[in-house]
Amino acid sequence: MQIGSLKLSSSLFLSPLAGYTNLPFRLTVREVGGLGLATTDLVNARSLLEKNPKALKLIETLPADKPLAVQLFGSVPEEMRDAAQYLESIGVNSVDINMGCPVRKVCRVGGGSAMMTELEKTAALVEGMVQAVRIPVTAKMRLGWDDENLTAPDLARALEGVGVAAIFVHGRTRQQGFSGTINLKGIRTVVESVQSIPVIGNGDVTTPEAAKKMFEETGCAGVSIGRGAFYNPWIFEHTLNYLRTGDLPPEPRFEERVRVMCRHLDLMIEVFGEEHGCRMFRKVAPWYSKRFGPANEFNKRVVQVSSKAEFHTVLQNYIRWREQFVDESGELKPRFQLAPMVASFMQEPAVTGRQQIPVPKGPVEIW
Ligand SMILES: Cc1cc2nc3c(=O)[nH]c(=O)nc-3n(C[C@H](O)[C@H](O)[C@H](O)COP(=O)(O)O)c2cc1C
Repeated sequence: MQIGSLKLSSSLFLSPLAGYTNLPFRLTVREVGGLGLATTDLVNARSLLEKNPKALKLIETLPADKPLAVQLFGSVPEEMRDAAQYLESIGVNSVDINMGCPVRKVCRVGGGSAMMTELEKTAALVEGMVQAVRIPVTAKMRLGWDDENLTAPDLARALEGVGVAAIFVHGRTRQQGFSGTINLKGIRTVVESVQSIPVIGNGDVTTPEAAKKMFEETGCAGVSIGRGAFYNPWIFEHTLNYLRTGDLPPEPRFEERVRVMCRHLDLMIEVFGEEHGCRMFRKVAPWYSKRFGPANEFNKRVVQVSSKAEFHTVLQNYIRWREQFVDESGELKPRFQLAPMVASFMQEPAVTGRQQIPVPKGPVEIW
């Protein structure tokens, strides 16, 4: 798979998740394998140009963290252009633009010629960035404001016209938020609206089967996974394997989940320092434990840890407590086993809604 001049080893992408897709998480997922390209949390272009320490921390990287895209957010063309140039100068491989729903104002008043103006304005901003750098510039959007205003196909076509190298599309409208199911036909319409650039589908992919279905039903060139990678950093490797061989690898065992979780914590400590890293990990560990089986003892205590030693005490106590739920071979006894994960768009309509993926806290109005 290729985005502009950037060659990727896999057509699977890590979606930007503000507050989560930091360097330690990206490195953790890369070590597990199967990932083509990772994107940072969204970064405000102006803050980056002002060298705001928080913005610089968001783009912190290491040689092992390649290839890397940085996602920019902003509406001032000169700032977006200069920020893209800065990212290129420090060796970032690709720049993604957060479009949330750029035609929001217009969608609200019902489209028409104003929508084209907004679209032209957006295309002009993007063109300024594309012309200022050699690295690929990509855009990430939703399908549109609501079901009556599915503007992504027009926007994607306009952006291809000004040189965007790929489009990422979350198959929901702005109005849907994170509810309802993913509209695969909507993604397909975006795929069909562009001439040659890759369109990468996104939304609710939590299993290799769901990724395969998204590829097959939308014709997308790649699949981008966000929350599914929290539960399951193995999803990229397992999906690649499944796509290549048709064999579905078994879900990782508890010991493997614990190993990767501990590695993730070590990387958090390396990058953010022990106390801050451990505090940040309080919101990460419960995502791993969602697939541990009974985990309330772990979840209650892990949100209080401030040091690596405390974390390991909590973990060891939990492992002992968990023994009551497992058999001699270390597997969860049948009545404690978890139901397999099923993506929203793989479920019967009646079930959708009861098995939504939780939405972590964050300024969700931005995307
Ligand atoms: C906590 C959180 C933070 C997010 N941050 C961003 C972001 O910074 N930029 C962006 O374009 N999308 C962001 N998104 C949207 C995701 O990239 C993705 O489009 C969405 O979660 C659907 O994919 P998923 O079901 O695989 O998670 C965020 C979503 C969540 C839940």
